[in-house]
Formats: sequence, structure tokens, C-alpha cells
Amino acid sequence: MQRWAIVIMLFLGALFNLPTTWSKHTPKIVEAVVIDAGSSHTSALLYRWSSDLISGTGLVQEMEQIYLDTPVTSFAGDPGNLTTFMQDLINDMKDWGSTSSDIPIYVGATAGMRILQESKPEDVDEILEVIERVIKNSRFEVGDVAILSGSDESLYSWLSVNVLSRAIPASPKGSSGNEQIETAGALDMGGGSLEVAFNCVDGCDQAHTLDVFNQTFTVWPSMASCYGIREAMGRYTALTIYQAFKRGENLTGVDIHNPCANEHSQLRDKWLGDFSTIKSNIFTNNCTKIIDAEFSDWLVSIPDGLEFHFHDSYDEHKCDQVLEPLTNFSACREIFGQECLNPSGLSLPNDTFYGFSSFYHSFRKPLNLEKSTDYATAMHKIKEVCQEPQSCDTCSKTDCFEVSYVFKILTDGLSFNKDTFGHLQFVDEIKGSQVSWTLGYATMRSQEPLDESRNITLISQCFFPWMILICVMCILFHLTYCFLPLCSLC
Ligand SMILES: *[C@@H]1O[C@H](CO)[C@@H](O)[C@H](O)[C@H]1NC(C)=O
Ligand SMILES: *[C@@H]1O[C@H](CO)[C@@H](O)[C@H](O)[C@H]1NC(C)=O
Ligand SMILES: *[C@@H]1O[C@H](CO)[C@@H](O)[C@H](O)[C@H]1NC(C)=O
Ligand SMILES: *[C@@H]1O[C@H](CO)[C@@H](O)[C@H](O)[C@H]1NC(C)=O
Ligand SMILES: *[C@@H]1O[C@H](CO)[C@@H](O)[C@H](O)[C@H]1NC(C)=O
Ligand SMILES: *[C@@H]1O[C@H](CO)[C@@H](O)[C@H](O)[C@H]1NC(C)=O
Repeated sequence: MQRWAIVIMLFLGALFNLPTTWSKHTPKIVEAVVIDAGSSHTSALLYRWSSDLISGTGLVQEMEQIYLDTPVTSFAGDPGNLTTFMQDLINDMKDWGSTSSDIPIYVGATAGMRILQESKPEDVDEILEVIERVIKNSRFEVGDVAILSGSDESLYSWLSVNVLSRAIPASPKGSSGNEQIETAGALDMGGGSLEVAFNCVDGCDQAHTLDVFNQTFTVWPSMASCYGIREAMGRYTALTIYQAFKRGENLTGVDIHNPCANEHSQLRDKWLGDFSTIKSNIFTNNCTKIIDAEFSDWLVSIPDGLEFHFHDSYDEHKCDQVLEPLTNFSACREIFGQECLNPSGLSLPNDTFYGFSSFYHSFRKPLNLEKSTDYATAMHKIKEVCQEPQSCDTCSKTDCFEVSYVFKILTDGLSFNKDTFGHLQFVDEIKGSQVSWTLGYATMRSQEPLDESRNITLISQCFFPWMILICVMCILFHLTYCFLPLCSLC
């Protein structure tokens, strides 16, 4: 009798001890959710990596994603509906095949919130508080809820692109360092801002260093606020009004020429489907603030609800003229005084550049382009979208503006030309994973030490192998009698 008792005790002792021994040899699965609180959308992504890091960094993989068309900034001053929105988003994550129970959620807000912070900082604080409270009351842990700086967003995007395209971690080829690693640049255009990042080899005094996979990269990140597609559309509309004002037109009585719109297009697409026409919807923030005193006096004199009338008719030359100040630094400074892209301050290396977000949705998709194309084809297709009758489920009246603006930014703004246009790759996904700053962010988070108490994954992972072992013993050695309670679990 005593012998059996000792065997049982030893066995149970082993059972409860083994998970800790096991953990020394078995990598854990680490998971984190990253919520992208963008200017024009909100998305939640589940990332997973093994605790067996590669030179100190996790090889992060996207497991699940939820994409919603609604940005959190649309709930400014409406915490009640924001709470419901965030609760619904977190509820939708219950179908995810996540293995651990208390996964941290990291929330990064981008340009939309940065721009809102300039005009209504109290709304921004409230939005962040509501988000944090909803996460606290959910089954998830609060990781971090913050506004990302433009340069961080840009660095993370660069990292995402290079991890997804498998440029890094590079197979160690020699010992001479990073020179041998060919990385790609990242072009990210959201709704609010434009981010550019590339590996800078020399003459980069403003470059940031990025330490991943035990390698140091020198990355030049730059961010242009107001250059996201939605803010740019606001600036474009403001410019058509301003330029008509300068010509002395009667703006309340006559139609204003909209030269970047296809008159044949129908209104289909919901997001950015149409240009704003109401004064208070156009002149909403600093992006559309025109410093000309005569114009701003006139603007103050007209009612907020005044509706401008536009006449859509594509004119390639005039369209380019209205857009001109956006890529001409001195003209932009004269009109807006701030947030101006300086093309001569950006000298892009002769690398492959991945263009995503609006470079995909507002350029490649409406133009129906291949992943990579040449300058002449792009120009030809732009004319088609702007002139020919367009009718499709995702076509909209603003397509012509969108493709013209993105092309202007790529060529006059970022200096892609006939020889280098082919280095651009317009993508939404690379190897099945969404391209955005979020994967790079999770990669940086993977370098942080694990909170050991957090991971329940371990127990469930270890329990099953041991259950199987017990069952095998039960069957092979006919131990049903002694381990009756355990064997009955089989
Ligand atoms: C990082 O690289 C250095 C040499 O470049 C090496 O000595 C060190 O062990 C590496 N660390 C890790 C965690 O791989
Ligand atoms: C949510 O928004 C709707 C309008 O879309 C409004 O009628 C309602 O009062 C809002 N709810 C809360 C709790 O603020
Ligand atoms: C502009 O046109 C409107 C409507 O035609 C007219 O009522 C108004 O007097 C005009 N304003 C000027 C300054 O001409
Ligand atoms: C944005 O506008 C607000 C108010 O219009 C102003 O106080 C603020 O200084 C502006 N921000 C910048 C960066 O100029
Ligand atoms: C930029 O705009 C200025 C006016 O502000 C103009 O004089 C100049 O010619 C423009 N530059 C180019 C390259 O068009
Ligand atoms: C840019 O790179 C391509 C190869 O990708 C090469 O053919 C071309 O000569 C390079 N151009 C310059 C200016 O270095």
C-alpha cells in the first residue's frame, strides 16, 4: 500500500513540477494585439511570435485582423458612442484563435489624432481615456495607448516592409555589417499624413538608429502632416476656392471650377466619395488654414453652413496648377505658412520602395495597375480615369483627384522619374500580411522582457503532452487501477 502511495506522490509531484522544467526547453507563444487608430480607419491585428527570439528580436507574424472604416476621431466629443464602438471591436476579437487569455493591447493613434490635438487637445485626451478604460474592462491587458510620433510611425513602417519582404533578419553573410543588406524603402500615405523612410548610408545627420535582430540600421524617417489623402483633398478644395477668390470670381453665386474631377463619374464609393462643399467641412483644421489676410477676412464674413458649388470638368493642366503649391515649398509656405513638403530636402536612394495604404487604395486600385509599372503607363491610365466615363462599384467622383495627387507627390514631391518609377511596388499585403506600421511596432515590442506571470499559454501547452504521456502509460502498463482518477480523464 505504501509503495503505491509513494508512486502516486512521485507522479503527482512530477506532474506539477514538470511544467517549469519544460518551460526551460520549450519556447512559449507570445501574443499581442496592435490597434491602429488611423485617420480614416481603425484596425486591430493579432501578432504572434515565439519566445525563442532571433538575436533578441521576435519574428512576428500576423495571425488575425479586423478592419473598420470608422476612425476614432469621428467620435470626438462623443465618448458614449466611442465606448460602444471600442467594445464592439474588442468583442469581435473573441473569434480569434488566440491561445493565451490576457494578451496586451497596444493602441497607436496616428496623423488624424495628431492633427486633432492641435485644435482640440481635450477631445484627444478624452478619446485616449475612453479607449484605455474599455480595454481595462475587457479580458485583455492594457499595453499602451498613445499617439505615435510621425517619425516612429515611419520607422515602424520601414521595419514592417523589410521584415515582411524578408530583407531582415538577413542571413549572416560576412562580418562587415549592414552594408551588405539590401533593404527597401517605405512610402506610407494615410488619411492625414505621408511617411517616407529608407536606409541611409551616408550624409544622414537626422537619421535614427534602429536596433533589431542584433543589427543596427540607420533609417531616415520623414513625415509630412496634411499630406495624407483626406487632408490633401481638403487642401485641394481650399485651393480651388482660394485661387478663384484671387481671380475675383463671385464665389457665392458662380460654380467654382474643379479641374481634377471626372465629370462622367458617378458617386459610388462611400469613403472620400465626394468633395466637401460646406464651408465648415472644408476649413476644419490647420491643414486648410490659408494665411492671406484678405481671404481669411472674407472667410470669416460668410456663414459656416454656406455651400460652395463646383463644376466638375477635367483639365490636366489646370489640375496640375491647383496641386502645384503642394509640391512647391515656397509656394506652399506663401499660402499655408506651415506643413509644407520640401522636395529638395528629400533625396531618396536608388532602392526599391514599397508604397502602401493610399498608394495602393488611391492609386494602384483606381488605375488598375500591376504591382509595379512604368511612368508612361501610369500617366496614360490617369488620363483614362480622369476623362473616360467611369462606372464601377468602387469608383467615385474623387478618383481623378486621388490618382493625380498621388502621382504629383511621387514625381514632383519624391522625384520618381521615367527611370526610377519602376522601383516602386504598390502593395496592400506582402506574403499575405497587411503592410502597415503595426507589424514593425510589434517587432520592437517583442524585444521587451516577458512578464512571466502573464503567460498562461505555457500551462495549456505543457498540460497536453503530459496528459498524452499519462494516457500512454495507462494503456501500456495497465495502470488503470493505481491511477484510476487520472486515467479516467483519458
Ligand atoms: C550580437 O552580435 C554580437 C557580435 O556582433 C555577438 O557577440 C552577440 O552575441 C550577439 N547577440 C545576440 C543576442 O545574438
Ligand atoms: C450616438 O450617435 C447617435 C447619432 O449617430 C446619437 O443619436 C446618440 O445620441 C449617440 N449616443 C451617445 C450615447 O452619445
Ligand atoms: C454674387 O452672386 C449672387 C447670386 O447670383 C448675388 O446675389 C450677389 O449679389 C453676387 N455678389 C457680388 C459681390 O457680385
Ligand atoms: C493650429 O491651429 C491652432 C488654432 O487655430 C493654433 O493655436 C496652433 O498653433 C496651430 N498649430 C500649429 C502647429 O501651427
Ligand atoms: C514655386 O513657386 C514659386 C512661387 O511661390 C515660383 O516662383 C516658382 O517658379 C515655383 N517653382 C517651380 C519649380 O514651379
Ligand atoms: C539604380 O539601380 C539600378 C538597379 O536596380 C541600376 O541599374 C541603376 O544603374 C542604378 N542607378 C543609379 C543612378 O545608381
